[in-house]
Amino acid sequence: MKTFLETQDQKTKIEYLNKFALDLDLYLPRLLVCNKNCAYALANLTKKKRAKEILLSTKETYENLVLELIDSADAKIRKYAYVICGNLPTEKLYNRLKEQIYKEETYLTLPSLMLSLVGKDCKDLLERACNEQEQIAPKIYAEIVTNYNLANPREYQTALGFNFTSASGIIFTQKCYEDFIIKDLALYNKQKLKCGIKINDITPKDYQILAKRRDIYSFSLILSQNANLKECLNLGLKYLDDIVDNGDFAYRISCQDSKINSAVLKEIKTISLSNLTNSPNNYSISVEVIIQNGYLLVASLESCKEKFTYRQEFLPASINPTTANIICKIAHYYNPNAKVIADGFCGTGTMLIERKLVNKSVSLIGSDISKISISKAKTNLNNIGFKAKLSCCDIADFKEGNLDEFISNLPYGLRVGSHSDNFKIYKNLVFKLEKSLVKGGFAFLYTADKKLLRDLVKFSNLKLVSELNFISGGLYCSLFIVQK
Ligand SMILES: C[S@@+](CC[C@H](N)C(=O)[O-])C[C@H]1O[C@@H](n2cnc3c(N)ncnc32)[C@H](O)[C@@H]1O
Repeated sequence: MKTFLETQDQKTKIEYLNKFALDLDLYLPRLLVCNKNCAYALANLTKKKRAKEILLSTKETYENLVLELIDSADAKIRKYAYVICGNLPTEKLYNRLKEQIYKEETYLTLPSLMLSLVGKDCKDLLERACNEQEQIAPKIYAEIVTNYNLANPREYQTALGFNFTSASGIIFTQKCYEDFIIKDLALYNKQKLKCGIKINDITPKDYQILAKRRDIYSFSLILSQNANLKECLNLGLKYLDDIVDNGDFAYRISCQDSKINSAVLKEIKTISLSNLTNSPNNYSISVEVIIQNGYLLVASLESCKEKFTYRQEFLPASINPTTANIICKIAHYYNPNAKVIADGFCGTGTMLIERKLVNKSVSLIGSDISKISISKAKTNLNNIGFKAKLSCCDIADFKEGNLDEFISNLPYGLRVGSHSDNFKIYKNLVFKLEKSLVKGGFAFLYTADKKLLRDLVKFSNLKLVSELNFISGGLYCSLFIVQK
């Protein structure tokens, strides 16, 4: 018990909790009532999904123990009890909390109580705090009001467009893809920057068209450029305030370099705007400070990010769909006449779907060792109305032949699996590619386990045409373009 309370490692804590769960009646009462630290530990644990499951599986014991905490004479324990109820509420606990709106005598606990209430009950507690404001310390009163606002977020309008006459924007995509996408942007006046591709003289309609491209992570409008951070923020946010409709819109601001975060947050508090509020939890405009010859302030619309609506099913290892689209555009550039395309590690089907979106005339074959992946791929394919021949099998048993193309996001052996598992998998893959691709057929293989694949391809009768560097999800990956 002592180790459990003292350990900072969440994994060890959960292991202990699993152990306690076997004998919850014995351990949880001790955990909850022995001292303040126990209530604190439980308040932290109720933030965790697994701990919640365990506690809810013995709901009555959990409820009775938290009720005891609410009845504690120690205000700090009651405060943690409110946090626990906020993290893991049940009907019985909520009904008891409602009584505390008028019963709780220690003002220090009211901010936490506010966060565990909803709707009209929050209003009731705020009303009580207003009536008793003179007796409440100003800092606590301010916290009660802040938590009221957090528990009852303001409804903002959704910004769907910008109103400007002419402006510039920046396309953010993979560096290795910039030369490909530039070929597609012949109509625009453009220039490569370190951070992306700058597009000049655009209209609001151009903004919408470019922002909806599937092969870019975002298209942001340039709001201001200045060597001075304060000026950049002031000019940029005021310009943004002018080009959104009149109304009540929310934005979130982020910085490319976290070192300037606090300076930015401090400065924006001093800028008064008519249509815009900074609301990091609930916003429709993303603003970013980029360091590029001084500072650049840019903005993008969240509504333009809703491009991959078919993708209701995904797994932790699923590829970012924009990255998948970029890979598929590159594949189409190398292999425009491909007819039969397979992904032997299809997961939830993202690569196959994006490939067909790039070239509607292809037919798709997908396989994966995991049954769950295949069933999720089926759902996603159905969502977009595409057909594919799907099967559940190890790449070692992959039997398809006459393929014009094999395109895959391979297992990396990092977060899932291992490098030694990969050796076997990649060896089988290369062997299958040698057999199943038609002469001149291509394989597009995306992985972070680069050396292994490079070496295996070197000793096969496949030719490495190119290796392109990607950065995605914090990993340095490569797209191997291989030809038989
Ligand atoms: C990086 S994920 C691909 C994710 C996929 N692109 C998506 O967006 O969902 C790798 C996939 O390889 C599959 N896999 C791992 N070992 C395999 C094997 N020996 N044969 C076939 N598939 C395998 C995993 O089940 C996983 O779905």
